[in-house]
Amino acid sequence: MLEFNKSFPEGFLWGGATAANQVEGAYKEGDKGLSVPDTFPGGKNRHKIIFNPNFNLEINKDKYFYPNQEGIDFYHRYKEDIAMFAEMGFKVYRMSIAWSRIFPKGDEIEPNEEGLAFYDRVFDELHKYGIEPVVTISHFEMPLYLVTEYGGWKNRELITFFERYSKVVFNRYKDIVKYWMTFNEINAGLVMPLYGLGILIKSEEDKYQTTFQAFHHQFIASALAVKAGHEIIPGSQIGTMIVYVPTYSYDSNPENVIFALKEEQLFNYFCGDVQVRGEYPSFIKQYFKEHNIELEIQEGDLETIKDGTVDYIGFSYYMSRTEKKSKTAIEVGAGNIIGGVKNPFLSVSDWGWEIDPMGLRISLNQLYDRYQKPLFIVENGLGAYDKVEEDGSINDDSRIEYLREHIKAMGEAIKDGVNLMGYTPWGCIDLVSNSTGEMSKRYGFIYVDKHDDGSGTLERKKKKSFFWYKSVIATNGEQL
Ligand code: BG6
Repeated sequence: MLEFNKSFPEGFLWGGATAANQVEGAYKEGDKGLSVPDTFPGGKNRHKIIFNPNFNLEINKDKYFYPNQEGIDFYHRYKEDIAMFAEMGFKVYRMSIAWSRIFPKGDEIEPNEEGLAFYDRVFDELHKYGIEPVVTISHFEMPLYLVTEYGGWKNRELITFFERYSKVVFNRYKDIVKYWMTFNEINAGLVMPLYGLGILIKSEEDKYQTTFQAFHHQFIASALAVKAGHEIIPGSQIGTMIVYVPTYSYDSNPENVIFALKEEQLFNYFCGDVQVRGEYPSFIKQYFKEHNIELEIQEGDLETIKDGTVDYIGFSYYMSRTEKKSKTAIEVGAGNIIGGVKNPFLSVSDWGWEIDPMGLRISLNQLYDRYQKPLFIVENGLGAYDKVEEDGSINDDSRIEYLREHIKAMGEAIKDGVNLMGYTPWGCIDLVSNSTGEMSKRYGFIYVDKHDDGSGTLERKKKKSFFWYKSVIATNGEQL
């Protein structure tokens, strides 16, 4: 008799997620070096500013405010924050280590002890409450020096630096951290090359040849890290981390269907296929040919990639995308941050991100069908404005509604047969937005009194969703 999946399994990893560059602040303390996001100004135009090919990565405080330099001061307030995560019942906490705390410039031989000691303290605090850390080794936070002096991941030398950095953190935290991911949203480098790959695109040639060469180096570095992690920490689980955006065809016109499929292969599967299967997928060869990309592959590279495949698929899910081969001028840009056209069946967030819980069930099915490895939703959530009422309460019903529908979709996917390990909603405590640098784009169960201009007391407050999520965890997803 075949056994059918019920809903959330025992031991399901409920928790929340953040990243060092968006919460820690203290950008110069503890001998930390400058990182790329320390140079990103805040504001709605952040993406336009930093993706201008002439953006010079220099800090000009007369002209801009730099929100990532301050974050929400997690560096000093981690005890208070972790106590609140524990109160919600978190089983896991996804966080990242700032590479520039451990290797301030990135190319040093010896790590910075003060940086390592900070994460000792954070992990000890988590341990105190029985919360397992899930650690991203690099979350959009490269030491700036590696970009300005080495040209980011287009330079093969970065493989050595990243391998050294990974081995240092595996050795240091081997007794306390079991779950790891190498690069956050590795495929985001396709659309945000500065975040993921540390490169500024200056020409069409750069766009294709340099981007994919940089990916090749990152794949090798990731595979070497996975291999080292398995050796240093027996039983460790090391995952990939991709942004997954299920891509629908606008209609049943086969021209649109194949267009959507090709977009999806490149964005959703290229990086995952390399890291999960250990080989470049067949579809990418044609893409390389069409874009005159000739990868420089050294002897042993492909074997290294094959030897360092991941144990699970971590992914972020925020939205779906709807694609059409020929778009009218009005349709162009009417879709999501990631592209495509407007989907008439979906509503959007305050920031125009299409809300699609069924898309999460679709994603889980697609990823599991393709890879047959455990899945882990390591980011999902609603970036929205919050209002603090006169009595101090924050009634974030729309966030609860968003999360409830996505958790229901997860439950359905588990019944569909998907092996889902856990769920860590993004920005479990309000943090600096990655795309805009705003504080007002809030995701948290915990409100942080900090504003777009940097003002605020940094006081933490529990939102209505705090109590709601606590009961979701306590009932293992039964009470939504
Ligand atoms: C993911 C990133 O792309 O989306 C996070 O891994 C980011 O760093 C999150 O914060 C939400 O995006 P945003 O732009 O709303 O902060």
